[in-house]
Amino acid sequence: MFSRMMRKTICASRNFSTSNQNNVKVAVAGASGGIGQPLSLLLKQCPLISELSLYDIVHTPGVAADLSHIETPAKVKGYMGPDQLKDSFKGADIIVIPAGVPRKPGMTRDDLFNTNAGIVRDLAKAAAEVAPKAFLAIISNPVNSTVPIAAEVFKKAGVHDPKRIFGVTTLDIVRANTFIAEAKGLNPLNVKVPVIGGHSGVTIIPVISQASPSVSFTPEELKPLTVRIQEAGTEVVKAKAGAGSATLSMAYAGARFTISLIKALKGESNVIECGFVQSDVTEASYFSTPLLLGKNGVEKNLGIGKLSAFEEGLLKEAIPELKKNIQKGVDFANK
Ligand SMILES: NC(=O)c1ccc[n+]([C@@H]2O[C@H](COP(=O)([O-])OP(=O)(O)OC[C@H]3O[C@@H](n4cnc5c(N)ncnc54)[C@H](O)[C@@H]3O)[C@@H](O)[C@H]2O)c1
Repeated sequence: MFSRMMRKTICASRNFSTSNQNNVKVAVAGASGGIGQPLSLLLKQCPLISELSLYDIVHTPGVAADLSHIETPAKVKGYMGPDQLKDSFKGADIIVIPAGVPRKPGMTRDDLFNTNAGIVRDLAKAAAEVAPKAFLAIISNPVNSTVPIAAEVFKKAGVHDPKRIFGVTTLDIVRANTFIAEAKGLNPLNVKVPVIGGHSGVTIIPVISQASPSVSFTPEELKPLTVRIQEAGTEVVKAKAGAGSATLSMAYAGARFTISLIKALKGESNVIECGFVQSDVTEASYFSTPLLLGKNGVEKNLGIGKLSAFEEGLLKEAIPELKKNIQKGVDFANK
C-alpha cells in the first residue's frame, strides 16, 4: 500500500530527487497548532512543495518566519485571521485542515463537534470560493462528520467533486502497522495494514486479515489488539493528561497523506492510501477504504476486499454509528 520508499522520504528531503519541476502549493489551515506546526515542518522538508501557505487565527507570522529559514525550496508565508484566509488558499493544490480544538481526557471525538463543525464549515467555504479544485485533506475531528460538512459546503457552492475531499485516517493505519510490527517482531517499515470505516471508536476497522506480510493472531489476541488500535487516540489523550491529543504522530501521518497526494498530482503511478471519502462501498455514504490516487484525486476506490468473520462483525457494529455521525454533519451544514 504505502511503500517503504515513501515512508522514508517524509524526512529525507535533501536526498530526494528534485529532477521534476516542483510547483505544488500546499496550504495548512490551523498551522500554529499542536499538529499544524510539526506538520508544516515535515512539509517544509518535502522538496516537491514550492509554496507552503500557513493559515491560523494566531501566531502564523512567527511560525512562518521560523520555518522559512530551513534550507529547502518551499517558500513559506504566514496568513493570520479571517481577513487573510482566502489569500492563503488562493492557488493551492492541496489544503490540509488540522484547525480546531483537540480532545481532553474523558471526551469523545464527537464532543468536539460543536466547536470544530463551524471551523471546518468556514474553512471549506473559503476553499470552495478560491480553490475549488484543490484536494482537501481534513484532519479536524470528528472526521466522520467534518468531511460531510465540507462536502455539503462544496455542493452548495456548486463545485463539489467527491474525488477531491478526503478525511485523513492515516494515523489509524500508522498505529496498526506499528502495533502489529511490535507484536510480531517485524520491521514496521515493512508492515502494511488497511484500516477501513471511519475515524472514531468502533468505526475504526483494522483489517488485520489483509495485513502484509500475513500475520495471525488467536481470537484472544485479536480482540485486544483491535481495541487498542481503535482506542489508540485515547491512549495518547490520557497520557497527555489534559494537554491535548496526538500531535506528533498525527503530523507524521498528515505529512505522509499529503505527500502521497502530491505524488499522485505529479502523475506517479500506484499511489495508494486509505482515506475517508464519499463512497458506495457500504450503506454508509462516506467510508474509508484503500484508494488509488491520481491527478484528479480518487482514481479508483479499491473497496474493502474479503473480510474475516471477526472483521465482518466490526463492520456491522460500525455502520450505524458511522451513519449517525455522517448525518449529523450533513444536518449541520444544511441547517
Ligand atoms: N484525523 C486524525 O487522526 C486526528 C488525530 C489527532 C487530532 N486530530 C484533530 O486535529 C485537530 C487539531 O488538533 P491539535 O492538537 O493540533 O489542536 P491545537 O489546539 O493544538 O491546534 C489547533 C489550531 O487550530 C487553530 N484554529 C482554531 N480555530 C481556527 C480557525 N477558525 N481557523 C484556523 N485555525 C483555527 C488554533 O488557533 C490552533 O492553532 C483537532 O480537532 C483534533 O481532534 C485529528
